[in-house]
Order: sequence, then C-alpha cells, then structure tokens
Amino acid sequence: MITNRQWRLKRLVSEGEHPGPEHFEFGQAPVPDLQPGEILVQTIVLGTSPAQRMYVSTERQFHFAVEIGEVMSCRGVGRVVASRHAGFAVDDIVQASLGWQDYAVLAPEASEDPSHNVRNVRKVPAPVRPLTTVLGLFGQLAYSAYVGVIEVGQVRSGDTVVVSAAAGGVGSIACQLARIQGAERVIGIAGGQDKCRWLLERGLCDEVIDYRQDSVGDALGRLCPDGLDVYLDSVGGDMLDTALQHLAVGARVVLCGMISTEYQRPRPPGPTHYFNLLYQRSRMEGFFVFDYVDRWPAFEARLREWYRQGRLVLTDDVAEGLEHAPAALGALFAGGNTGGRVIRVSQDPQHLPHIDDQDGTQTASEHRE
Ligand SMILES: NC(=O)c1ccc[n+]([C@@H]2O[C@H](COP(=O)([O-])OP(=O)(O)OC[C@H]3O[C@@H](n4cnc5c(N)ncnc54)[C@H](OP(=O)(O)O)[C@@H]3O)[C@@H](O)[C@H]2O)c1
Repeated sequence: MITNRQWRLKRLVSEGEHPGPEHFEFGQAPVPDLQPGEILVQTIVLGTSPAQRMYVSTERQFHFAVEIGEVMSCRGVGRVVASRHAGFAVDDIVQASLGWQDYAVLAPEASEDPSHNVRNVRKVPAPVRPLTTVLGLFGQLAYSAYVGVIEVGQVRSGDTVVVSAAAGGVGSIACQLARIQGAERVIGIAGGQDKCRWLLERGLCDEVIDYRQDSVGDALGRLCPDGLDVYLDSVGGDMLDTALQHLAVGARVVLCGMISTEYQRPRPPGPTHYFNLLYQRSRMEGFFVFDYVDRWPAFEARLREWYRQGRLVLTDDVAEGLEHAPAALGALFAGGNTGGRVIRVSQDPQHLPHIDDQDGTQTASEHRE
C-alpha cells in the first residue's frame, strides 16, 4: 500500500500572523482505491502564492477555504501513476490542485467547471525538465507578469519601468518581460543587498533599489528624474504611495498585489498621492490573471519562444522536500525567497526533455552578447 505524507490544517492563521509550520500538522494517510473516473497523481512540484494565506486565515471567504483537518490546498505538477479515467494515462504530466501531499486522487471531470478553473486538472502538453517551469516561467507566475507588463502596463520602447518585489516570482519575470518589450530602463525594488545583487548579476534589472536600506523616494528621484512610465506593484502601501509621486505624464500604475497591507485589519488608508494620477494624466489599474485563462496558451507560446531565443532566464527558487512546505509559504511574507518559490516533492521523470535540449535554445548571456 502507498503511504501518503500530508500537511493538514491544524489552526487558522489569525490577524497579524502569517502561515507557518505551527498552523499545520504533518502526518501520513493511506491512498484510497481509485473509483471509476479518478486518477492517482504523484506530486512532483508544488507552487507557493501569498494568496494561499486566504485559504487558511480566520477571515477566509474564498471558495477555496481549507477547513481544520483538511489537506492544505496547493496547485502543483505531478505524474499520473494510476488511472481509471479514459482521458488520462499513466505517465501523463498534469497540473492540478494537488495539495500538500505526496499523492492526490483526482476526478478530472468533476473539477472542469470553468468558474473554478484554478482547480482544473490540466494535462501539460509539452512538459520539459525542470517541471518547475509549468508553474513559473511557462506558468501562472509568468502569465501574471505578462498581463501586468504587456496587457495592462502596455510597456513600450523607451519606457522607464519600475517593479516592486522585483526579486519575487512575478517580479523577476516581469523585469525580463519589460526588457523584451523595449523598456529603456528597468528599475527593481527589493529587500536586501543579496536580492539586489541577484537582480543585477542575473541581468534582470538595470538599476535596483534596496528598500530596506535606502529611501525609495530619494532613489526614484535620482534614477528617474523625468518620472516613471510604468510601475508594476506587488507591494502596495507606502511603496505604492511613493511611486505615485514619481509618475511621468501618461504613466500606467499596475496593481498586481499588495502584500504589505493586504492582510492588515482594519485596512490601512489608501494612497495620499493618488491626485498625481490626475496631474500626470495617468491611470492605475488592477488585474486578475484568471480573467485571461483563455489566453494562457498564447502567452505560454510566446514565453517559450523568448526562452528559446535566450531572452528569458529561469528564476526558480526551489525549497527541497514536502516537509518544508509551510516554511516555504511563510517565507514569502518575510522576503525569504529569491525568485519564484516552488517546493520540490519528488524528482522530475528523467525521460522528459530538458528545457535546454530543445533545438535553437540559446542562453540568455549568448543572446545579449
Ligand atoms: N493579480 C493577480 O492575478 C496576481 C497573480 C499572482 C500573484 N499576485 C500577487 O503578486 C504578488 C507577488 O506574488 P509572488 O507569488 O510572485 O510572490 P513573491 O513576490 O515571490 O513573494 C513575495 C515577496 O514580496 C515581498 N514582500 C513581502 N512582504 C513585504 C512587505 N511587507 N513589504 C514589502 N515587500 C514585501 C518580499 O520581497 P522583498 O524581500 O523584496 O521585500 C517577498 O519575497 C503577491 O502580492 C501576489 O498576491 C497577483
């Protein structure tokens, strides 16, 4: 019999707390026999997202709420190891809501409701190693960056683009996409010297601002004296307010997330410098990546092409082992990740082609030379 390691919710995350190992219990459970229409999936890699806090907090209203004693919800990538479903075969690679566990029993048809697309079981059409790409560079983190930079931000040639949480999952890809769109300068804001160095050494940004050390306002004044054209914000709060003071005429402020204030209660007051949107004839717009689900395949095709051309680099930050899942999630709220944080649960199937074994792939440094 297969034994399944699982993280189950022990207690809800209260106001002022962030999720961590103390909220979950690590245990084992047998894998139930498959019923007709079900598949058994072995987890290979799990994603992390600040949004997962909403599933387990005392004020969760989301329809993805996890109840006490349930396995923590989490989207991931896995391999079908048994199937009683005509549409899925053993060794298919799927992306689905697998949860923090080694094995998940899924009933694909039952979860194909498009309004719950986050829970859908999707067969990965052309999987490559590392399978972290399904979640990161060719997955939801990149789609979010794509929508933020290209669809809503409409970054164009010559723009000065500022990205907050630039060394995070969405941010590190957004910086690269801004470059691809022809931005003249990409300025990344991140917490700490190591992250800032990483952004520069990997060639993701032209300039960096370490907000833990420097005044973001002073740095923006120095680095973009004519103002910024696009600000992609994942942080909100004071950082957003500061950026609003540095808009060029016609700037686009893109609201991707607001991790610094999203979980504060009562909600902090809004930005005081919003009037600059009027003075600078600018706009501020939020987006939700799931609204673009029909276009994800088109986004993915372009992302793959840019990778093949050496214009995108991988920015995965891999936490090894299911046992570290709660800590890996909690780290997002303390800035503990550099790049897109994923949790490696088991090894990629070795027969899959490697991402760099595809014809025509150049490295990013070759492309820039
Ligand atoms: N709109 C959408 O459809 C959509 C889709 C995906 C993600 N999101 C949002 O996009 C944001 C980024 O998501 P992600 O998955 O890529 O996470 P991430 O950026 O990899 O991780 C969070 C990062 O935020 C920074 N941070 C955390 N607390 C902070 C604080 N109090 N003040 C300033 N910075 C703080 C940290 O970086 P530093 O160490 O540099 O501070 C941390 O590494 C999140 O807000 C997420 O909810 C939105």
